Amino acid sequence: MTAVSLKTPAELTELLAFYASAGVDEALEDAPINRFAEARPKQAERASAPVAPVRESRLQERQSSGPSLDANRTAEQQASSPGLDASGIPDAPARPMAAAVPDEGQVLLARQLATSASTLDELRQHMATFDGCNLKFTAKNLVFADGNPNAELMLVGEAPGRDEDLEGLPFVGRSGRLLDRMLAAIGLDRTSAYIANVIPWRPPGNRTPTPHETEICRPFIERQIELVNPKVLVNLGGPSAKTLLNTTEGILRLRGNWRVHTTASGVAIPAMPTLHPAYLLRTPAHKKLAWRDFLEVKAKLRGLG
Ligand code: URA
Repeated sequence: MTAVSLKTPAELTELLAFYASAGVDEALEDAPINRFAEARPKQAERASAPVAPVRESRLQERQSSGPSLDANRTAEQQASSPGLDASGIPDAPARPMAAAVPDEGQVLLARQLATSASTLDELRQHMATFDGCNLKFTAKNLVFADGNPNAELMLVGEAPGRDEDLEGLPFVGRSGRLLDRMLAAIGLDRTSAYIANVIPWRPPGNRTPTPHETEICRPFIERQIELVNPKVLVNLGGPSAKTLLNTTEGILRLRGNWRVHTTASGVAIPAMPTLHPAYLLRTPAHKKLAWRDFLEVKAKLRGLG
């Protein structure tokens, strides 16, 4: 790569503006750094460290930190997992533990935590203490929700972006401003609607969440919907629709047609999949489709009284 020499503040400002408009919002090194390896004690330190006390203190840590992943795994699974020794304790203690093995155990733990929350506050607390999703370690904030938890309408997007991560609130950036206008068009705002995301932590660089990350976070958003118990759900974009409506159909086929989201306790909530505001910003010609969907939502809310 050719090195560009920039001298003046104006040139630097221009370069930064170019990066920002291209979506580059993280400063990274030229060479990759393995932060997980950095967090682990060096080989020599590990060799000379007294093994038993380390394990004991980790065990105590686990016992005092509530439900544990290990409770959901057989001894055999634990022993055969990479990085776990026969007692199920990761062999290189990283402090703080900065990475989770994204396996079925984390999904089960998330489900346990989500189910045990009987209020939205409890759910938020459980999510804040959950360390089973690696997105948490790169995000600045948990983005739980915004709006009125007693609202009849709940909207669920995909995952927070940079602005949402910084503020800890969903849909506060450009697509959020468009969403506010869409809500206003049907006479609603954040005092009469409740907004959340399938994924509550920003994926680094706004990458697409992996299917595993989505499965780990799914119990939380499902419980959040159950606790809010809205009359109508709106799925903003394909990932929200696919995750919460158990379908693999594309959003352009799904949108505009009523579906049902069924909660764990069996409550059927009418759900309208529609186009994501970020997509509408890129494809303004499709705003009329979203407008039609929002009119459907308005009519449904009126009909449900
Ligand atoms: N896009 C989303 O899906 N959610 C947000 O909170 C912001 C942008």
